[in-house]
Amino acid sequence: MKLPKRVTICEVGTRDGFQIEPDFIPTERKIEVVDRLSATGMPRIEVTSFVSPKAVPQLRDAEEVMAKITRRPGTRYSALVPNDKGAVRAVDAGVDDIHTVVSASESHNLANVNMSIAESITKFKATAEVAHRGSKPVYAGISCSFGCPFEGDVPVGQLESVVARLVDLGAKGIGLADTTGMANPAQVSRVLERLVPRFPGIEWTLHTHDTRAMAIPNILAAMEAGVTNFDGSIGGLGGCPFAPGASGNVCTEDLIHCLHAMGVETGVNLDALIETSRRVQEIVGRALPGQIAKAGKWDRRYPLPDGVAARLPAR
Ligand code: COA
Ligand code: ZN
Repeated sequence: MKLPKRVTICEVGTRDGFQIEPDFIPTERKIEVVDRLSATGMPRIEVTSFVSPKAVPQLRDAEEVMAKITRRPGTRYSALVPNDKGAVRAVDAGVDDIHTVVSASESHNLANVNMSIAESITKFKATAEVAHRGSKPVYAGISCSFGCPFEGDVPVGQLESVVARLVDLGAKGIGLADTTGMANPAQVSRVLERLVPRFPGIEWTLHTHDTRAMAIPNILAAMEAGVTNFDGSIGGLGGCPFAPGASGNVCTEDLIHCLHAMGVETGVNLDALIETSRRVQEIVGRALPGQIAKAGKWDRRYPLPDGVAARLPAR
């Protein structure tokens, strides 16, 4: 396989995950989770969203969370914003990077942010201006890049025209999001092989949901196409409140476990991350989909059953 030596993981569980939790996660718990994630050496954390508190009440404490986390040098702290109003709040709160969101599908964009794609792109221009005035890089995430739960297929030409407009307006990076787990690895290869060479200098991220158990295969396909930035959610939390059927992101510790097993570096302390995942399960009060927190790492060994040791050939 053609694997990179190192990849950069962005943890999005406190945003993509906590936004869809049925119960409001208390602010102190959110801060605790971000601080634990920082302590694992996580290079990027999407901490929260500066969106309408009516649209996403679970993240109405974004300012307080940003103000009270302990910032680790070496970690970049970002937040999701849907418009310039969100960007002003995010810059004031001291984020390092601004992450915006627009969908490649008209239906999902209307459901998610109550705007047409064209209106979202006009908003992106205003958002990017706020970010640039505040000297913050802007990364544009594109929901439903590989398919839409309402419309089905999203033609790659349609995706490409959204990417082109966002790049023109100053996006430093583009995050292709598989919001409801519709992408397959062959499709991910096809899309990236078409888009990546057409936009030189753009930092590409793949944001996967594991709704149909294709997230890690899709990430492997993206690595073969040269992508080295991936989003994940601790424990496999996550989902979009405005996309029916959306379930958790790729589980960060499962992804990092897979990467480390293959010799791809992330700079993250996997044991500390697994501990954090167990703590998040306590906080949300249920078992999460992640596998490694349950199974242990690949080097886990068990004692031999009674009588077996005596029958093994001497080594
Ligand atoms: N932060 C805080 N408040 C905001 C805001 C922001 N970024 N953007 C808009 N608002 C407020 C407005 O001030 C207004 O408040 P008021 O009713 O007290 O006057 C209200 O929200 C409605 O604003 P409007 O511009 O008419 O927006 P809308 O109702 O059409 O909603 C969005 C548009 C984008 C603000 C809203 O749909 C949203 O926040 N969506 C979040 C989507 C999301 O996070 N999805 C999951 C992640 S992909
Ligand atoms: Zn997502």
